[in-house]
Amino acid sequence: MIDDLNKRIEDVRREFDEDTRGNVGSKEFNLVREKYLGRKKGRLADLMKVLKDVAPEHRPDAGKLINDLKNELEVKIQAFEAGMSDRRDVRVDCSLPAFDTPLGYPHLISSIRSQVEDIFLAMGYLIAEGPEVETEYYNFSALNFKEHHPARDEQDTFFLDGLPETLLRTHTSPVQIRYMQSHTPPIKIISPGKVFRKDEPDATHTPVFTQVEGLLVDRDIHFSHLKGTLEVFARSFFGEDVNLRLRPSYFPFTEPSAEVDISCFLCGGEGPDCRICKGTGWLEILGSGMVHPRVLQNCGIDPEVYSGFAFGMGVERIAMLKFGINDLRMFYDNDIRFLRQFGRP
Ligand code: DAH
Repeated sequence: MIDDLNKRIEDVRREFDEDTRGNVGSKEFNLVREKYLGRKKGRLADLMKVLKDVAPEHRPDAGKLINDLKNELEVKIQAFEAGMSDRRDVRVDCSLPAFDTPLGYPHLISSIRSQVEDIFLAMGYLIAEGPEVETEYYNFSALNFKEHHPARDEQDTFFLDGLPETLLRTHTSPVQIRYMQSHTPPIKIISPGKVFRKDEPDATHTPVFTQVEGLLVDRDIHFSHLKGTLEVFARSFFGEDVNLRLRPSYFPFTEPSAEVDISCFLCGGEGPDCRICKGTGWLEILGSGMVHPRVLQNCGIDPEVYSGFAFGMGVERIAMLKFGINDLRMFYDNDIRFLRQFGRP
């Protein structure tokens, strides 16, 4: 009887080896497992049934033989399954073209902002940041805005509900105050960031836009330092040929103040129909001036000892000029067809 069992065990082993030879997919694999290890009708279950016909004194040996086979098949089945998942991976067709993984790149505003930062970093400026939620004091009063200045009006500025004298900053100039109050000269910073105004969106207005503020305070700083600095910036950013024109202007926090234009880099002032300068030959790029003595005083800096200059420019504005973009809203529509045209920085 034991010999008979031995033969049956040998048969099952041979059959199993045959069934698992060659390329077997997961469907066949499941069938094989059921055929040998299935609880009711599996080959091993059949062998167990034979056990009761074995003479009692041989039963322990017979049971061990069947059990050994069971362990052996379980191990083989595991190895077989592992091998099968390998085979599944190998079925990738390496000759197919690879998937194109789209690579992102910075938005044009971020990229222009970095370009401006790099130009000033190279001139030894530090980058300072300030909060977008400001107080009336930093946004207006400390910058020498009179109490009834129209910019303080609710029509123009986003005041925050329920928080007295708190607003979304309308320009990056409050960073000047924060920095001067917490540092002693020499001071040499730029401050890029978002600003907010209650404007209806149109081709030249959006309620959020980006500015870069500049501030330099030291002994013996005068107007020619301002002009030289802005000239270096304009030539690095727009091209070596551009010239600067300063027009008298007014800002409460600078005296004297100047609006700065660059000569048109597209037509050089020659084209009466130039689409960028409209034939004027000049493009306004920023506001600037010598820091008002009262502003220095508000920050605890003695205007008899120190002087400084400041400027503020619109990032979208210089991007529009540089690339001939005629509608500010395009920066914020996030139409990928528009953004893609500017590619990687
Ligand atoms: N803050 C001004 C604005 O938003 C821009 C400006 C003008 C900044 C002159 C300055 C400056 O620092 O000196 O229109």
